[in-house]
Amino acid sequence: MTPERFGERLLAWWDEHGRKDLPWQLNKSPYRVWVSEIMLQQTQVKTVIPFYQRFMARFPTVQALAEAPEDEVMHHWTGLGYYARARNLHKAAKIVSTDYQGDFPGTVEALQALPGIGRSTAGAIAAFTMGQSSAIMDGNVKRVLCRFLGIREWPGASHMQARLWELAERYTPKQRTGDYNQAMMDLGATLCTRSKPSCLLCPFNDSCIARLEDLTKSIPASKPK
Ligand code: ADE
Repeated sequence: MTPERFGERLLAWWDEHGRKDLPWQLNKSPYRVWVSEIMLQQTQVKTVIPFYQRFMARFPTVQALAEAPEDEVMHHWTGLGYYARARNLHKAAKIVSTDYQGDFPGTVEALQALPGIGRSTAGAIAAFTMGQSSAIMDGNVKRVLCRFLGIREWPGASHMQARLWELAERYTPKQRTGDYNQAMMDLGATLCTRSKPSCLLCPFNDSCIARLEDLTKSIPASKPK
């Protein structure tokens, strides 16, 4: 299946079944999407939502976050864990506030230069809020691509990073990139789950290599011993 057809079919599925009212999908802005992506890095959607709501009520803008005392930022993060994320968030807010007058930079490269923002978070901000055609890469995207394409190597292997990014970029469409990225995460989180995937409901169940060859249990491969 061509990447074009893959994208069309994924978007048709997402239009009908995707999540469209998560808090960070409403009143979209680089600031709101950035905070959500950082919270969601190691934490599930269901857990993140109440923390996100409290955080946004207290720090509604990047300036408000930049001006807040560190201990108050940390207090609003308590319970989410991985506290380096909150310290980097605060640091980056100060940079955006002072160096960019509160407007997030408009390229993936400049976003990636901010503390705590990697290639995928930068891609998500640019695609979700700036209409750019940037790819993302998280556990969901890796799982969907590896299963669909029948990739049997362990995705954590160092040579796989470049290969997966190359594939992600090839499949990511120029149009509706934000919806496509959200759709990849939704497919991975709701149907193409790590264990017991719901292949019967999947739009790719006639063409997914892992499904056709009965490999969903072994793809993505776990770390070799
Ligand atoms: N995980 C990371 N980003 C996400 C998003 N935008 N929606 C749902 N889960 C996510």
